[in-house]
Amino acid sequence: MSSQYQELCSKLTIRSFDPVGDLDDFMVWASDERVPIFCSWDAFKSKEEAIEYINQKLITHPYFKVICLNNRAIGAILLNFNQGNDRCRCEVGYVLGSQYWGKGIATWAVKTLVSTTFEERPELERIEAFVDVENVGSMKVLEKVGFAREGVLRKYFIIKGRVRDFVLFSFLRTDLP
Ligand SMILES: CC(C)(COP(=O)(O)OP(=O)(O)OC[C@H]1O[C@@H](n2cnc3c(N)ncnc32)[C@H](O)[C@@H]1OP(=O)(O)O)[C@@H](O)C(=O)NCCC(=O)NCCS
Repeated sequence: MSSQYQELCSKLTIRSFDPVGDLDDFMVWASDERVPIFCSWDAFKSKEEAIEYINQKLITHPYFKVICLNNRAIGAILLNFNQGNDRCRCEVGYVLGSQYWGKGIATWAVKTLVSTTFEERPELERIEAFVDVENVGSMKVLEKVGFAREGVLRKYFIIKGRVRDFVLFSFLRTDLP
């Protein structure tokens, strides 16, 4: 790991989302058309639209956190947990402002979250991720963290009105170093 990357990582944190204090920083990536190309949501056209979404979906979300650089929210990472017989697995999702792409920040965030989540949740055995087959950057993040590519789920999600193939990745508790 280069000392430059180590220095960058020392300024990164994952913390709870502050719907008021983080709103302007949230808008930077949430209103950027390039960011949700492979995601189910669309870029927000106004602050009002974003506030409505935050109030309806994010405030009540069980695990929506922000990725911060010097405590400024430059992206987000979330986990969707399951219940009952599915409680052994959860799904990770992440997003980063485009000006921060390609610096290893998402890799740091996913790696950090994987280790803390297995520590905090003894019932969890598997963290999974679903990635559009064309989302090369996201697949690279998961591969760098150590996720296994399990296969392609054909015609799996509808993204921006198109039925898309998705790659399923997983990281097991037993994959921890
Ligand atoms: C996917 C995303 C989170 C990656 O964040 P990031 O901080 O840039 O990721 P990292 O820098 O840790 O790693 C990305 C790797 O993919 C590479 N990469 C990025 N785009 C690429 C492309 N189109 N083709 C080939 N490699 C690509 C980068 O060079 C880097 O590899 P390297 O470390 O070997 O240089 C970010 O691009 C993003 O927010 N995209 C929009 C939202 C999204 O798609 N989220 C994931 C939904 S599953």
